[in-house]
Amino acid sequence: MSKEVKDMFASIAPKYDTANSILSLGIHHVWRNKTVELSGAKKGYRVLDCATGTGDLALAFKNTVGDSGYVLGTDFCTEMMETAPAKSAKKRLHVDFEVADAMNLQYDDDSFDIASISFGIRNVDNPIIALSEMARVVKSGGTIVVLEFGQPNGLFGSFYSWYSTYIIPYIGGILTGNADAYRYLPKTAAIFPCREEFTDLMLKTGSIESATFYSLTFGIAFLYIGKVK
Ligand SMILES: C[S@@+](CC[C@H](N)C(=O)[O-])C[C@H]1O[C@@H](n2cnc3c(N)ncnc32)[C@H](O)[C@@H]1O
Repeated sequence: MSKEVKDMFASIAPKYDTANSILSLGIHHVWRNKTVELSGAKKGYRVLDCATGTGDLALAFKNTVGDSGYVLGTDFCTEMMETAPAKSAKKRLHVDFEVADAMNLQYDDDSFDIASISFGIRNVDNPIIALSEMARVVKSGGTIVVLEFGQPNGLFGSFYSWYSTYIIPYIGGILTGNADAYRYLPKTAAIFPCREEFTDLMLKTGSIESATFYSLTFGIAFLYIGKVK
């Protein structure tokens, strides 16, 4: 599974940012800023962003933790991180980028204040293992932040279901040449644990003592915040 996921992201990597901005009408930047705000990140914090992709969340964190803080963006797909250092240099926000599997992090216990993952937890083979690894490298009292697609309800939910089933693969296919990757997105988001189901999953790690969630843009995305024991 992880080999197919890695290959799929490698194939869409060069156009990933363009597709993100068009398909979300730029709203993903608002979600990322909200994620940083609600994470409680402060100047001087050390942040690990897992499954960082092209690095947008890592850069948003760096903007907040400042020069006295440190942000490390990691992903298991080298191609996805290819544009990240140039983006970091252009924005004058120094972030390090490194290859790492979220399910087997090569970092010491208690070495970060926050570990984050945006639109990545749905893609890892075992989310509980990844969340446990993230909690392991975060200090006691620190924070795990997860941003992930959800399942909007009601009339808006019906519209979003139509948009994600037909429009996202169509436009994603034109932009990246891989419509299947953009069929995978709504298919996996529709069945991935959402709301309390996901906070329960966080608590199942045994290393996260409390977890809460926030709905973003009518439930298109959810932000989960966990406190490490
Ligand atoms: C939808 S992209 C999200 C990228 C970025 N975080 C964002 O918000 O745009 C999902 C990312 O998860 C990464 N990924 C999936 N499984 C992973 C794993 N086990 N370890 C590290 N990265 C993983 C993929 O390579 C891909 O870059």
